[in-house]
Amino acid sequence: MQHRISSALSAIQTPAFVVDELRLKHNLQTLADIKTRTGAKILFAIKGCPLMPIFQQIGDALDGFTASGVYEARLAKDGHKKSETEIHTFCPAYSAQEIHELLSLQNNIHIYFNSLEQLNQFGPTIRNHKHAKIGLRVNPALSLAKFAKYDPCRAGSHFGVSVSELSKADWSLIDTLHVHALCENMAEESARLITHVGELLKGVLQHVKTVNFGGGHFITHDDYKVDVLVHALNEFKKAYPHITPVLEPGAAVVYDAGYLVASVLGLQNNEGTQNAVLDASANAHVPDVMKAGIRLSVLNETEIPGSHAYTFVSRTCMARDVWGDYAFEKPLAVGDKIVFLDGLQYSLGEANWFNGHPRPDLAVLNAAGEYRIWRHFSYTDFKHNYSG
Ligand SMILES: Cc1ncc(COP(=O)(O)O)c(C=O)c1O
Repeated sequence: MQHRISSALSAIQTPAFVVDELRLKHNLQTLADIKTRTGAKILFAIKGCPLMPIFQQIGDALDGFTASGVYEARLAKDGHKKSETEIHTFCPAYSAQEIHELLSLQNNIHIYFNSLEQLNQFGPTIRNHKHAKIGLRVNPALSLAKFAKYDPCRAGSHFGVSVSELSKADWSLIDTLHVHALCENMAEESARLITHVGELLKGVLQHVKTVNFGGGHFITHDDYKVDVLVHALNEFKKAYPHITPVLEPGAAVVYDAGYLVASVLGLQNNEGTQNAVLDASANAHVPDVMKAGIRLSVLNETEIPGSHAYTFVSRTCMARDVWGDYAFEKPLAVGDKIVFLDGLQYSLGEANWFNGHPRPDLAVLNAAGEYRIWRHFSYTDFKHNYSG
């Protein structure tokens, strides 16, 4: 079957990040069903794809957004204009000015702290604001993340207070307990975390109204058993009926809901290695390819032996700025479009201007199959990053 993006390719000027509106809708429906079946709230962790034009659609389907600080919180407010939209912010430490700015957003703001010291410093001020709620991140000491380098529960981690410290907490300052331990994990691990937290925090859960089970639940992945998550959340609710569970996935919201479209600019053979030079860079546009060793699937690639094999490389000067090895039934030619599937998660927020090559457009393939550019980056954008 032809992929939806195939018929739009001739209209796409590369490189371009392209949201697939229908696929995003499908992901949001999966998440909205979980809300209905469990009473849990689900937030979108903006860091997974800080692309403001999709916030309205996401905010309408979910309960709000999770931000990493003031700027992401402001982006959430600007991107989804509804006063009841919740904005939850977690940061390892805040300045007094940042607390002031978060409170002045006048939204349904939730500020999560990473230490009792900051909680005690800022909690009383926040309590004077009716619209604001307070959270405390706890380190659940459960290492389940798929990539060790993204494990917030690693030994010596700076994320979250240890459970032993909770005996010193002033509970009048805490509405929510927050844990984050997962990264691209399947339902069995989501369930394990939820059950673990129910046991670990048994002695203190009577003090709070909300428990946020963080992100990393890879809910929209084909192998994720949604029923297992729903069961775990409902069991938790049975044990603690006064508590509203919250999930804050980032990747799962945009997983497979967009592409990075590139072009082959050059072909170059080095002693039998056929390099295809693309106008998109792994290092500059999807840094996780290099940082986490991720390989993005490509439309129409094949595993059939004897097919035409290429190493996709980039134009930056970094020697290992390489996408990986790909093969096709027909030989590639200069000008061919390459569609990296699942191109949205953790690419936009991490993309950079290294070597000054053009950044991918931000665009959408809408429900009707029409291609529209939201944002084109020019030399002026590049210059503004580095001008006085
Ligand atoms: C506190 C917190 N919540 C949510 C997320 C989102 O995780 P994911 O995009 O893996 O679902 C992260 C990711 O780093 C996080 O640090």
